[in-house]
Amino acid sequence: MKKIPLIMDCDPGLDDAIALLLAIASPEELDILGISTVVGNVTVSQNQENARRICELTNQPDLKVFQGCARTFFERISPADSEYTADIHGETGLGGCKLPTPTMPLQSQDGVSFIIETLLNASEKITLAPSGPLTNVACALIMEPRIKDKIEKIVVMGGVIGLGNITPTAEYNFYCDPQAAYVVFTSGVPIVMIGLDATRQTQTSQEWLRTLAEIGTPVAQAVIDMLSFYHRPNAFLEPGVLGGVLHDPNIIAYLLKPELYSGRNAYVEIDVSSTIMAGRSTVDWHGKLGRKPNAYIINKVDVDGFFDLLTSRLNRYPMTTEKVHTCNHC
Ligand code: BDR
Ligand code: CA
Repeated sequence: MKKIPLIMDCDPGLDDAIALLLAIASPEELDILGISTVVGNVTVSQNQENARRICELTNQPDLKVFQGCARTFFERISPADSEYTADIHGETGLGGCKLPTPTMPLQSQDGVSFIIETLLNASEKITLAPSGPLTNVACALIMEPRIKDKIEKIVVMGGVIGLGNITPTAEYNFYCDPQAAYVVFTSGVPIVMIGLDATRQTQTSQEWLRTLAEIGTPVAQAVIDMLSFYHRPNAFLEPGVLGGVLHDPNIIAYLLKPELYSGRNAYVEIDVSSTIMAGRSTVDWHGKLGRKPNAYIINKVDVDGFFDLLTSRLNRYPMTTEKVHTCNHC
């Protein structure tokens, strides 16, 4: 099978961290060219550190991590003082997981230049998988429009057809930087939008965390330490949500097994006003406007298939880390 050349752009973030783990565990399908980080769940300097923590956890210190934009176009949310994100992802962005300070280097090139240079020099088209505010991707598109021809597609976690999660109308990533989302959705590049309608279907449960405990590796334990944050007493969860919503791993699961997902092509418009609608992704699901679709919108996930895939890939980590012996009987 031909590998997908991939740039991940993220703000880890609990669910971004799981997306990284899923991608790194899938070397047969994915060729990770680099990981750019962006302001979002926490500051960009914390995000890049967290990305390096995850790479080191998986014994992949050769993966390249870049620091991208430190602020969004209009700085709608400042993660440094956002209580909201601390409630969702913890003070460090990794919940209760205490991974050591990374020793692998941060790349000296900035994240936006990395995206531009990698695309311009590529001999084949590259897929982008952004799981944070779209600031880095939008900056790259603005600075060097020629990269459009080198992008296979952008598989983005963001937006929603229905109700928002940060405001009544908007999803967090698009709300943080509506202008960036607007730039991306008007770029003409093929987009797969995996928004809250789909990602809310993939929620963690205590039962699934117990399954992970049986794996007994440092990676599985780190995932438990991260995601138990969603199951703590008084966890900050959306109404109707029972566990942690694994938003971001869906963009990687989609690349690995698109058959787990369904949706349709539709026209999407991002609201860049400074009103209650800021960051809203209005999806013309029924084609009422007669406009040309600019994205493939996912609205359904095969949830069992998603968790089977995630569990089996997390189970691979003995390939790179020592399996901890958990048997109490011998
Ligand atoms: C998105 O917001 C962030 O908090 C998550 O990491 C995810 O990318 C969901 O709205
Ligand atoms: Ca994210």
